[in-house]
Amino acid sequence: MRAIVFERYGSPEVLELRDVATPTPARGEVLVEVVAVSINLSDWESLHGTPAYARIGGLFRPRRTILGSDIAGRVVAVGDGVTRFHVGDEIFGDNLPRNGGFAEYVAMPASALAPKPAALSFAEASAVPQAGVIASQAVALAEPGSRMLINGGGGGSGSFAIQLAVAKGVEVTAVDNAGKLDFMRQLGAHRVIDYRAEDFTRTGPYDVIVDLVAHRSVFAYRRALAKGGRCVMVGGTARTMVRMLTIGGLLGLATGVRLGVLMVREGPAHFAAMAEQCAAGSVSICIDRVFGLKDAPAALAWHGEGRALGKVVVAVGDAGRSPD
Ligand SMILES: NC(=O)c1ccc[n+]([C@@H]2O[C@H](COP(=O)([O-])OP(=O)(O)OC[C@H]3O[C@@H](n4cnc5c(N)ncnc54)[C@H](OP(=O)(O)O)[C@@H]3O)[C@@H](O)[C@H]2O)c1
Repeated sequence: MRAIVFERYGSPEVLELRDVATPTPARGEVLVEVVAVSINLSDWESLHGTPAYARIGGLFRPRRTILGSDIAGRVVAVGDGVTRFHVGDEIFGDNLPRNGGFAEYVAMPASALAPKPAALSFAEASAVPQAGVIASQAVALAEPGSRMLINGGGGGSGSFAIQLAVAKGVEVTAVDNAGKLDFMRQLGAHRVIDYRAEDFTRTGPYDVIVDLVAHRSVFAYRRALAKGGRCVMVGGTARTMVRMLTIGGLLGLATGVRLGVLMVREGPAHFAAMAEQCAAGSVSICIDRVFGLKDAPAALAWHGEGRALGKVVVAVGDAGRSPD
Protein backbone atom coordinates (compact mmCIF):
# COMPACT_ATOMS: atom_id res chain seq x y z
CA MET A 1 0.00 0.00 0.00
CA ARG A 2 1.04 3.64 -0.35
CA ALA A 3 1.81 5.57 2.82
CA ILE A 4 3.48 8.79 3.91
CA VAL A 5 6.44 7.71 6.03
CA PHE A 6 9.02 9.52 8.18
CA GLU A 7 12.01 8.06 9.99
CA ARG A 8 13.50 11.13 11.65
CA TYR A 9 12.02 14.16 13.34
CA GLY A 10 11.94 17.30 11.24
CA SER A 11 9.93 19.55 8.94
CA PRO A 12 7.48 18.18 6.30
CA GLU A 13 10.44 17.56 3.92
CA VAL A 14 11.31 14.42 5.93
CA LEU A 15 7.99 12.85 4.84
CA GLU A 16 8.11 10.45 1.87
CA LEU A 17 5.46 8.66 -0.15
CA ARG A 18 6.45 4.97 -0.11
CA ASP A 19 5.12 1.49 -0.75
CA VAL A 20 4.94 -0.37 2.55
CA ALA A 21 3.36 -3.61 3.74
CA THR A 22 -0.38 -3.47 4.32
CA PRO A 23 -1.04 -4.11 8.02
CA THR A 24 -2.94 -7.18 9.21
CA PRO A 25 -5.61 -6.64 11.85
CA ALA A 26 -4.75 -8.31 15.16
CA ARG A 27 -7.33 -9.64 17.60
CA GLY A 28 -9.83 -6.88 18.40
CA GLU A 29 -8.74 -4.78 15.42
CA VAL A 30 -10.23 -3.93 12.06
CA LEU A 31 -8.43 -3.11 8.83
CA VAL A 32 -9.73 0.18 7.46
CA GLU A 33 -9.40 1.41 3.90
CA VAL A 34 -8.72 5.06 4.64
CA VAL A 35 -10.78 7.52 2.60
CA ALA A 36 -9.89 10.68 4.52
CA VAL A 37 -7.58 11.61 7.38
CA SER A 38 -7.59 15.00 9.08
CA ILE A 39 -4.56 16.80 10.45
CA ASN A 40 -4.27 17.73 14.11
CA LEU A 41 -1.62 19.79 15.81
CA SER A 42 -0.55 16.50 17.43
CA ASP A 43 0.62 15.34 13.94
CA TRP A 44 2.78 18.44 13.60
CA GLU A 45 4.14 17.89 17.11
CA SER A 46 4.91 14.21 16.40
CA LEU A 47 6.61 15.15 13.11
CA HIS A 48 8.91 17.65 14.82
CA GLY A 49 9.34 15.76 18.08
CA THR A 50 8.40 18.89 20.00
CA PRO A 51 7.11 19.58 22.64
CA ALA A 52 9.16 17.00 24.53
CA TYR A 53 6.09 14.87 25.28
CA ALA A 54 5.80 14.21 21.52
CA ARG A 55 8.92 11.98 21.89
CA ILE A 56 7.41 9.65 24.47
CA GLY A 57 8.46 6.16 23.34
CA GLY A 58 10.76 7.55 20.63
CA LEU A 59 13.42 9.82 22.11
CA PHE A 60 15.76 9.95 19.08
CA ARG A 61 13.66 8.50 16.26
CA PRO A 62 9.90 8.34 15.80
CA ARG A 63 8.39 5.13 17.13
CA ARG A 64 5.38 5.35 14.82
CA THR A 65 6.58 6.18 11.31
CA ILE A 66 3.19 6.95 9.76
CA LEU A 67 1.31 9.97 11.14
CA GLY A 68 -2.44 10.55 11.12
CA SER A 69 -4.84 9.68 13.91
CA ASP A 70 -8.28 10.88 12.83
CA ILE A 71 -9.54 8.77 9.97
CA ALA A 72 -12.72 7.92 8.10
CA GLY A 73 -13.08 5.02 5.72
CA ARG A 74 -14.45 1.53 5.16
CA VAL A 75 -13.85 -1.73 7.00
CA VAL A 76 -12.13 -4.21 4.66
CA ALA A 77 -11.22 -6.95 7.16
CA VAL A 78 -11.88 -7.73 10.82
CA GLY A 79 -9.60 -9.45 13.33
CA ASP A 80 -10.64 -12.22 15.72
CA GLY A 81 -13.15 -11.21 18.34
CA VAL A 82 -14.59 -8.24 16.45
CA THR A 83 -18.37 -8.44 16.26
CA ARG A 84 -19.39 -4.76 16.16
CA PHE A 85 -18.09 -4.05 12.67
CA HIS A 86 -18.30 -5.89 9.37
CA VAL A 87 -16.62 -5.63 5.99
CA GLY A 88 -18.08 -2.69 4.09
CA ASP A 89 -19.11 -0.63 7.15
CA GLU A 90 -18.39 3.08 6.86
CA ILE A 91 -16.62 4.17 10.00
CA PHE A 92 -14.57 6.97 11.53
CA GLY A 93 -12.32 7.16 14.57
CA ASP A 94 -9.25 8.33 16.42
CA ASN A 95 -6.12 6.15 16.41
CA LEU A 96 -4.07 8.36 18.76
CA PRO A 97 -1.38 7.49 19.87
CA ARG A 98 -0.79 4.68 17.32
CA ASN A 99 -1.50 6.85 14.28
CA GLY A 100 -0.99 5.29 10.81
CA GLY A 101 -3.73 7.22 8.98
CA PHE A 102 -1.60 8.77 6.22
CA ALA A 103 -1.84 5.50 4.33
CA GLU A 104 -4.23 3.56 2.14
CA TYR A 105 -4.97 1.14 4.98
CA VAL A 106 -4.68 1.28 8.76
CA ALA A 107 -5.27 -1.44 11.35
CA MET A 108 -6.89 -0.03 14.46
CA PRO A 109 -8.79 -1.24 17.51
CA ALA A 110 -12.51 -1.67 16.91
CA SER A 111 -12.96 0.14 20.23
CA ALA A 112 -11.55 3.33 18.66
CA LEU A 113 -14.21 3.45 15.92
CA ALA A 114 -17.83 4.47 15.46
CA PRO A 115 -20.20 4.17 12.49
CA LYS A 116 -19.90 7.23 10.24
CA PRO A 117 -23.09 9.32 10.28
CA ALA A 118 -24.62 9.07 6.80
CA ALA A 119 -25.09 12.84 6.63
CA LEU A 120 -21.33 13.47 6.90
CA SER A 121 -18.84 12.99 4.09
CA PHE A 122 -15.69 10.99 4.85
CA ALA A 123 -13.70 14.23 4.91
CA GLU A 124 -16.12 15.80 7.38
CA ALA A 125 -16.20 12.73 9.62
CA SER A 126 -12.39 12.59 9.73
CA ALA A 127 -12.33 16.18 10.99
CA VAL A 128 -14.35 15.48 14.12
CA PRO A 129 -12.76 13.00 16.57
CA GLN A 130 -9.83 14.71 18.32
CA ALA A 131 -10.79 18.34 17.70
CA GLY A 132 -14.48 17.84 18.43
CA VAL A 133 -13.84 16.04 21.70
CA ILE A 134 -11.32 18.63 22.89
CA ALA A 135 -13.83 21.37 22.09
CA SER A 136 -16.82 19.78 23.79
CA GLN A 137 -14.87 18.94 26.96
CA ALA A 138 -13.32 22.41 27.10
CA VAL A 139 -16.66 24.17 26.62
CA ALA A 140 -18.25 21.97 29.30
CA LEU A 141 -16.15 23.98 31.80
CA ALA A 142 -18.04 27.22 31.02
CA GLU A 143 -21.50 28.14 32.33
CA PRO A 144 -24.02 30.06 30.22
CA GLY A 145 -23.40 33.77 30.68
CA SER A 146 -19.78 33.29 31.71
CA ARG A 147 -16.78 34.88 29.97
CA MET A 148 -14.51 32.42 28.17
CA LEU A 149 -11.25 32.99 26.34
CA ILE A 150 -10.07 30.43 23.78
CA ASN A 151 -6.41 30.77 22.83
CA GLY A 152 -5.74 29.14 19.45
CA GLY A 153 -9.39 29.64 18.49
CA GLY A 154 -8.88 29.60 14.72
CA GLY A 155 -7.57 26.03 14.49
CA GLY A 156 -9.29 22.64 14.49
CA SER A 157 -10.41 22.40 18.13
CA GLY A 158 -10.94 26.14 18.41
CA SER A 159 -13.33 26.30 15.45
CA PHE A 160 -15.58 23.74 17.13
CA ALA A 161 -15.15 25.27 20.60
CA ILE A 162 -16.19 28.79 19.54
CA GLN A 163 -19.42 27.48 18.03
CA LEU A 164 -20.28 25.26 21.01
CA ALA A 165 -19.57 28.01 23.52
CA VAL A 166 -21.61 30.64 21.66
CA ALA A 167 -24.53 28.21 21.32
CA LYS A 168 -24.36 27.68 25.09
CA GLY A 169 -24.70 31.39 25.77
CA VAL A 170 -21.07 31.91 26.75
CA GLU A 171 -19.39 35.24 25.95
CA VAL A 172 -16.42 34.22 23.82
CA THR A 173 -13.10 35.96 23.26
CA ALA A 174 -11.02 34.09 20.69
CA VAL A 175 -7.28 34.57 20.12
CA ASP A 176 -5.26 33.61 17.04
CA ASN A 177 -3.15 35.18 14.30
CA ALA A 178 -4.47 38.18 12.30
CA GLY A 179 -5.40 36.01 9.30
CA LYS A 180 -7.92 34.08 11.39
CA LEU A 181 -9.75 36.94 13.11
CA ASP A 182 -12.58 37.26 10.55
CA PHE A 183 -12.99 33.49 10.54
CA MET A 184 -13.40 33.42 14.33
CA ARG A 185 -15.90 36.31 14.16
CA GLN A 186 -17.91 34.38 11.57
CA LEU A 187 -18.02 31.41 13.94
CA GLY A 188 -19.65 33.70 16.50
CA ALA A 189 -16.80 34.94 18.69
CA HIS A 190 -17.88 38.17 20.39
CA ARG A 191 -14.35 39.52 20.56
CA VAL A 192 -11.16 38.51 18.75
CA ILE A 193 -7.52 39.18 19.56
CA ASP A 194 -4.46 38.94 17.29
CA TYR A 195 -1.87 37.25 19.49
CA ARG A 196 0.97 39.04 17.71
CA ALA A 197 -0.58 42.46 18.44
CA GLU A 198 -2.05 42.09 21.93
CA ASP A 199 -1.29 40.06 25.06
CA PHE A 200 -4.56 38.37 26.05
CA THR A 201 -3.36 37.89 29.62
CA ARG A 202 -3.62 41.69 29.96
CA THR A 203 -7.27 41.62 28.91
CA GLY A 204 -10.21 40.09 30.74
CA PRO A 205 -11.02 39.09 33.38
CA TYR A 206 -12.31 35.70 32.20
CA ASP A 207 -14.19 33.00 34.07
CA VAL A 208 -12.66 30.27 31.91
CA ILE A 209 -9.48 30.29 29.83
CA VAL A 210 -8.82 27.38 27.49
CA ASP A 211 -5.34 27.43 26.00
CA LEU A 212 -4.77 25.09 23.06
CA VAL A 213 -1.18 26.32 22.54
CA ALA A 214 -0.12 27.26 26.08
CA HIS A 215 3.29 28.80 26.67
CA ARG A 216 2.63 31.55 29.23
CA SER A 217 3.58 31.68 32.91
CA VAL A 218 1.05 30.65 35.54
CA PHE A 219 1.19 34.23 36.85
CA ALA A 220 0.12 35.60 33.47
CA TYR A 221 -2.85 33.23 33.34
CA ARG A 222 -3.73 34.10 36.95
CA ARG A 223 -3.76 37.80 36.03
CA ALA A 224 -6.39 37.22 33.33
CA LEU A 225 -8.75 35.13 35.49
CA ALA A 226 -11.78 36.44 37.36
CA LYS A 227 -12.25 35.52 41.03
CA GLY A 228 -13.05 31.81 41.17
CA GLY A 229 -12.04 31.42 37.52
CA ARG A 230 -10.41 28.43 35.87
CA CYS A 231 -7.65 28.11 33.30
CA VAL A 232 -6.89 24.85 31.52
CA MET A 233 -4.05 24.09 29.17
CA VAL A 234 -4.97 21.60 26.44
CA GLY A 235 -1.77 21.67 24.38
CA GLY A 236 1.42 23.71 24.42
CA THR A 237 4.95 23.50 25.74
CA ALA A 238 6.12 20.76 28.12
CA ARG A 239 7.53 23.47 30.38
CA THR A 240 4.12 25.13 30.70
CA MET A 241 2.53 21.77 31.43
CA VAL A 242 4.97 21.11 34.28
CA ARG A 243 4.39 24.59 35.67
CA MET A 244 0.62 24.26 35.45
CA LEU A 245 0.72 20.97 37.33
CA THR A 246 3.05 22.23 40.07
CA ILE A 247 3.18 25.99 40.70
CA GLY A 248 -0.24 26.38 39.05
CA GLY A 249 -1.91 24.17 41.62
CA LEU A 250 -0.31 26.01 44.53
CA LEU A 251 -0.96 29.46 43.08
CA GLY A 252 -4.56 28.49 42.49
CA LEU A 253 -5.01 27.35 46.10
CA ALA A 254 -3.47 30.58 47.38
CA THR A 255 -5.48 32.92 45.15
CA GLY A 256 -8.85 31.23 44.73
CA VAL A 257 -8.62 30.23 41.08
CA ARG A 258 -7.94 26.90 39.35
CA LEU A 259 -5.02 26.35 36.98
CA GLY A 260 -4.38 22.97 35.40
CA VAL A 261 -4.26 20.68 32.39
CA LEU A 262 -7.36 19.35 30.64
CA MET A 263 -6.88 15.61 30.22
CA VAL A 264 -9.21 14.91 27.34
CA ARG A 265 -11.29 11.73 27.49
CA GLU A 266 -11.05 10.18 24.05
CA GLY A 267 -12.94 7.48 22.20
CA PRO A 268 -16.21 6.91 20.36
CA ALA A 269 -18.30 7.49 23.49
CA HIS A 270 -17.19 11.11 23.24
CA PHE A 271 -16.61 11.89 19.55
CA ALA A 272 -19.70 10.10 18.18
CA ALA A 273 -22.00 12.50 20.04
CA MET A 274 -20.13 15.46 18.58
CA ALA A 275 -20.41 14.01 15.07
CA GLU A 276 -24.17 13.60 15.54
CA GLN A 277 -24.42 17.30 16.43
CA CYS A 278 -22.54 18.12 13.21
CA ALA A 279 -24.73 15.75 11.20
CA ALA A 280 -27.82 17.45 12.64
CA GLY A 281 -26.46 20.80 11.44
CA SER A 282 -26.11 22.45 14.85
CA VAL A 283 -22.30 22.65 14.54
CA SER A 284 -20.40 23.33 11.31
CA ILE A 285 -17.28 21.39 10.37
CA CYS A 286 -14.82 23.95 9.03
CA ILE A 287 -12.54 22.34 6.46
CA ASP A 288 -10.07 24.80 5.03
CA ARG A 289 -8.56 22.57 2.33
CA VAL A 290 -8.42 18.99 1.11
CA PHE A 291 -5.12 17.61 -0.25
CA GLY A 292 -4.32 14.29 -1.97
CA LEU A 293 -2.18 11.63 -0.25
CA LYS A 294 0.99 12.46 -2.20
CA ASP A 295 0.55 16.08 -1.10
CA ALA A 296 0.32 15.19 2.59
CA PRO A 297 3.67 16.97 3.30
CA ALA A 298 2.19 20.16 1.78
CA ALA A 299 -0.98 19.61 3.83
CA LEU A 300 1.04 19.38 7.04
CA ALA A 301 3.01 22.48 6.08
CA TRP A 302 -0.21 24.37 5.30
CA HIS A 303 -1.55 23.48 8.74
CA GLY A 304 1.71 23.87 10.64
CA GLU A 305 2.58 27.23 9.15
CA GLY A 306 -0.68 28.55 10.52
CA ARG A 307 -2.54 29.20 7.29
CA ALA A 308 -5.46 26.85 7.82
CA LEU A 309 -8.83 28.16 8.99
CA GLY A 310 -10.16 25.23 11.01
CA LYS A 311 -9.24 21.76 9.73
CA VAL A 312 -7.06 20.41 6.92
CA VAL A 313 -7.94 17.02 5.41
CA VAL A 314 -5.98 14.54 3.29
CA ALA A 315 -8.18 12.56 0.89
CA VAL A 316 -6.55 9.16 0.52
CA GLY A 317 -8.79 6.99 -1.57
CA ASP A 318 -11.99 7.51 -3.45
CA ALA A 319 -13.09 10.75 -1.81
CA GLY A 320 -13.19 12.17 -5.31
CA ARG A 321 -10.99 15.07 -4.41
CA SER A 322 -7.57 13.47 -4.54
CA PRO A 323 -5.51 14.91 -7.39
CA ASP A 324 -3.18 11.87 -7.51
N1 LIG B 1 -4.83 17.47 26.76
C1 LIG B 1 -5.15 16.41 26.04
O1 LIG B 1 -5.63 15.40 26.56
C2 LIG B 1 -4.95 16.47 24.55
C3 LIG B 1 -5.43 15.45 23.72
C4 LIG B 1 -5.23 15.56 22.34
C5 LIG B 1 -4.57 16.67 21.81
N2 LIG B 1 -4.10 17.65 22.66
C6 LIG B 1 -3.43 18.86 22.19
O2 LIG B 1 -4.44 19.82 21.93
C7 LIG B 1 -3.94 20.75 20.97
C8 LIG B 1 -5.05 20.86 19.93
O3 LIG B 1 -4.73 21.64 18.94
P1 LIG B 1 -5.54 21.71 17.54
O4 LIG B 1 -5.40 20.39 16.83
O5 LIG B 1 -6.85 22.32 17.72
O6 LIG B 1 -4.53 22.71 16.88
P2 LIG B 1 -4.58 23.60 15.58
O7 LIG B 1 -5.66 23.16 14.67
O8 LIG B 1 -3.18 23.66 15.07
O9 LIG B 1 -4.95 25.02 16.20
C9 LIG B 1 -4.08 25.74 17.00
C10 LIG B 1 -4.26 27.22 16.66
O10 LIG B 1 -3.45 27.99 17.55
C11 LIG B 1 -2.83 29.02 16.80
N3 LIG B 1 -1.66 29.48 17.51
C12 LIG B 1 -0.37 29.10 17.39
N4 LIG B 1 0.41 29.77 18.25
C13 LIG B 1 -0.40 30.60 18.92
C14 LIG B 1 -0.20 31.55 19.96
N5 LIG B 1 1.02 31.79 20.45
N6 LIG B 1 -1.26 32.21 20.44
C15 LIG B 1 -2.50 31.99 19.96
N7 LIG B 1 -2.77 31.11 18.96
C16 LIG B 1 -1.72 30.42 18.46
C17 LIG B 1 -2.55 28.37 15.48
O11 LIG B 1 -2.37 29.34 14.47
P3 LIG B 1 -0.92 29.78 13.93
O12 LIG B 1 0.09 28.74 14.26
O13 LIG B 1 -1.10 29.94 12.51
O14 LIG B 1 -0.64 31.12 14.44
C18 LIG B 1 -3.83 27.58 15.26
O15 LIG B 1 -4.83 28.35 14.65
C19 LIG B 1 -2.61 20.18 20.48
O16 LIG B 1 -1.54 20.84 21.13
C20 LIG B 1 -2.65 18.72 20.92
O17 LIG B 1 -1.38 18.17 21.19
C21 LIG B 1 -4.30 17.57 24.00
